[in-house]
Amino acid sequence: METPKEIFLKDYKKPDYFFDTVDLTFSLGEEHTIVSSSITVYPRIEGNSSAPPSLVLDGVDLKLVSIKVDGKQLQKEDYHLDTRHLTISSPPSTARFTLEIVTEIQPQKNTSLEGLYKSSGNFVTHCEAEGFRKITYYQDRPDIMAKYTCRVEGDNALYPVLLSNGNLVEEGNLEGGKHYAVWEDPHKKPCYLFALVAGQLQSRDDSFVTRSGRNVSLKIWTTAQDLPKTAHAMNSLKASMKWDEDVFGLEYDLDLFNIVVVADFNMGAMENKSLNIFNSVLVLASPETASDAEYARIQGVIAHEYFHNWTGNRVTCRDWFQLTLKEGLTVFRDQEFSSDMGSRSVKRIEDVSFLRNNQFPEDAGPMAHPVRPHSYIKMDNFYTSTVYRKGAQVVRMYKTLLGSQGFRRGMDLYFKRHDGQAVTCEDFYAAMRDANDADFANLLHWYSQAGTPTVKVTSFYNSEAKTYSLKFSQQVPPTPGQAVKEPMLIPVAVGLLDSNGKDMPLTSVYRDGMLQVVSTDGQPAYTTVLKITKKEEEFVFVEISERPVPSLLRGYSAPVRLMSDLTDADIFFLLAHDSDEFNRWEAGQVLSAKLMLSLVGDFQQNKPLSLTADFVHGFKSILTDYTLDKEFIAKAIDLPGVGEIMDMMDIADPDAVHVVRSFIRKHLASELKAEFLKTVENNRSSDPYVFDHSKKSRRTLKNIALSYLASLEDAQITELALSEYKTATNMTDQFGALTALVQNPGKTRDDVLADFYGKWEHDYLVINKWLGLQASANIPENVENVRKLLKHRAFDLRNPNKVRSLIGGFCASPVNFHAKDGSGYKFLGEIVLQLDKLNPQGASRMVSALSRWRRYDETRQAHAKAQLEMILSTNGLSENVFEIASKSLA
Ligand code: ARG
Ligand code: ZN
Repeated sequence: METPKEIFLKDYKKPDYFFDTVDLTFSLGEEHTIVSSSITVYPRIEGNSSAPPSLVLDGVDLKLVSIKVDGKQLQKEDYHLDTRHLTISSPPSTARFTLEIVTEIQPQKNTSLEGLYKSSGNFVTHCEAEGFRKITYYQDRPDIMAKYTCRVEGDNALYPVLLSNGNLVEEGNLEGGKHYAVWEDPHKKPCYLFALVAGQLQSRDDSFVTRSGRNVSLKIWTTAQDLPKTAHAMNSLKASMKWDEDVFGLEYDLDLFNIVVVADFNMGAMENKSLNIFNSVLVLASPETASDAEYARIQGVIAHEYFHNWTGNRVTCRDWFQLTLKEGLTVFRDQEFSSDMGSRSVKRIEDVSFLRNNQFPEDAGPMAHPVRPHSYIKMDNFYTSTVYRKGAQVVRMYKTLLGSQGFRRGMDLYFKRHDGQAVTCEDFYAAMRDANDADFANLLHWYSQAGTPTVKVTSFYNSEAKTYSLKFSQQVPPTPGQAVKEPMLIPVAVGLLDSNGKDMPLTSVYRDGMLQVVSTDGQPAYTTVLKITKKEEEFVFVEISERPVPSLLRGYSAPVRLMSDLTDADIFFLLAHDSDEFNRWEAGQVLSAKLMLSLVGDFQQNKPLSLTADFVHGFKSILTDYTLDKEFIAKAIDLPGVGEIMDMMDIADPDAVHVVRSFIRKHLASELKAEFLKTVENNRSSDPYVFDHSKKSRRTLKNIALSYLASLEDAQITELALSEYKTATNMTDQFGALTALVQNPGKTRDDVLADFYGKWEHDYLVINKWLGLQASANIPENVENVRKLLKHRAFDLRNPNKVRSLIGGFCASPVNFHAKDGSGYKFLGEIVLQLDKLNPQGASRMVSALSRWRRYDETRQAHAKAQLEMILSTNGLSENVFEIASKSLA
């Protein structure tokens, strides 16, 4: 293999040529597909007196049929072809010329699922990031924006539906049972937003009238059989369109919006202009087949892709390093949307736990990168939780600093300045700053520095002077390639609680001896945002009549690890009284994490495990507090995840964390059995399924209570769970009961799994859940079961959802993936090699599970390292897997 080339942000150069219009014709066939393109090209610098620069086009796995410039066929000596490029060494020096290229491709053999490929007999495309080069020779980079037309020709019977971006301008029949359709997209776009779909599809039709009166026809395309399962997605789409108008003043800009459902798709979904393509699991839902969690994900992702129409499509990225410009911003927007559709604090809790369980470990490992990476080998490896999720937190910081209205002013200016352009993260920063005359000091470091900052806080109350001071220090840890870091702007939202648990009014605070007024319009504030900008900084609140308990980093105002000098009593106090719901939850998490870490120590020293009465009591008071939101209770009684706790340890010990987490769950279940049983009784409902906050809250709470109870392995509870399973009228309850039952190995487990399979054999999305549940089980020696499931007819290595369920699910089991004998790592190593031959993107996502091997003990390190070395020494490895494996070993 040629050594893969690393690409650097600092090497960005403007293109020498731009494209104005692109006319594509696809002649779809079973043997091969012919793609003809006609592009008008113009040089960036006109009237270049010296010889014009060569025009370099990207192209991979293409067969060049012909190439013409201004109608004249190029001869072999006029261009150069290698495995990745087509170079025209001396293009015309005219102000404009036409480039016509014909290529031949074989979508039916394309298992990488990028470019044009076949899924369930239909033709579909996925181009982001660099898949368009598998369709035709092109300058495959996002700063090349052009107007497209696309003519699609195909067999009438096999492909009755022919779709592409924009508006349908012509259609008709052709000889030999074929037909065609011509689509025209009036908006300039980069090629990663190009899409084509052809096949046997039917649509659910609806419409939306925008606030300026445009009537938009909405269509969700899928198989006839799945059409009934698109209702929730359609409702979510209409809600998103309305929300973007209400909150950001952003309207849809065409008369047509299509969503196509695809069973084989690498990612979640794709925001192609007016032709979004979705992984089926993120569209199809019915009460019987999809759980609340899936309903929520569908709502969020439909919104996400729709919101990209402005943040991504109208304003796009100059280069792929800027990915967070569109993804961080769009994730932030979909998180806000979901908050408005359900409970804001519950959504915040979910997003923060996701960040801690997934992004924190990434930021502390060998693949750590800033939200705007400095380099990559394969861009596909950088669609990460850092770019997406931490990126969204960075966007949230602007809003925390500017308030809702200031943030909106910044967004308005961003669109005013950059509509139709391909821009950078600095452009976004500048729009936010300039619209508000703001001073963001060193906020930009968030884009260039990797690693989760640690913020330490010490507090001091002076009863004579009636002042309360908070001393902050920040530390950004070293990460690969970045040994030394600069301090960053960290907004810390703070409230102070008095001895009754009420928020104290805040009027002014001294920062470095300078007085700052925090009240607005003479009204005291109850939360204020302190801007930490230095390595060490002190803030002093005045007129504080008694020693307060501080509520720090309210709403998780910055993606940092907070370490404070609060006592357990202070934290229990916050748990009981904080007006910031997020921080009440956080108080419980901090107490649980402390407990878990200390029990892990006990376990490692063979000491007996036990819980304090205080902890059980605190837990009980939340579980039985009927004034609290039920979904909030469900979150508050859920212990921090195994990944989150391992991330806090010097040497991660998966067995110990798992044992401790199970011990606490079982102990709580036995001490509070009556309360948990009552929770199940009180929240059971026979009403028809509705996906709304109040109904979902009851189901969530009931199911978590059931899962605590099931950890008791008690016959009465097994009966209860079985009866919940049998009487369930929706998937949330059915799967909740199933999940509770399969915690414990034995006959009941085997029977209920078999029963579930029998019920749902015909529905591959439900069966994927069944695969995932078994794969992630912590029952002993599960790797053998997973090996058996690989051969099950429900599994297929070519389908990314199945791979994610079975292989991804397995990697989520602390006990079996991290088995000390190395059997889990070995299994993954084998799969990665098989998968890499079919689908490099999928393989590299799986190999990432091995990348944090240095976090474990020596025995595990040796096993994992051996697998990475084995992978890296394999011939014909993809660049995707090469990048992750080599960086993991570096
Ligand atoms: N832009 C898509 C989204 O976030 C994701 C596309 C990812 N593509 C990839 N090859 N990683 O909505
Ligand atoms: Zn996105």
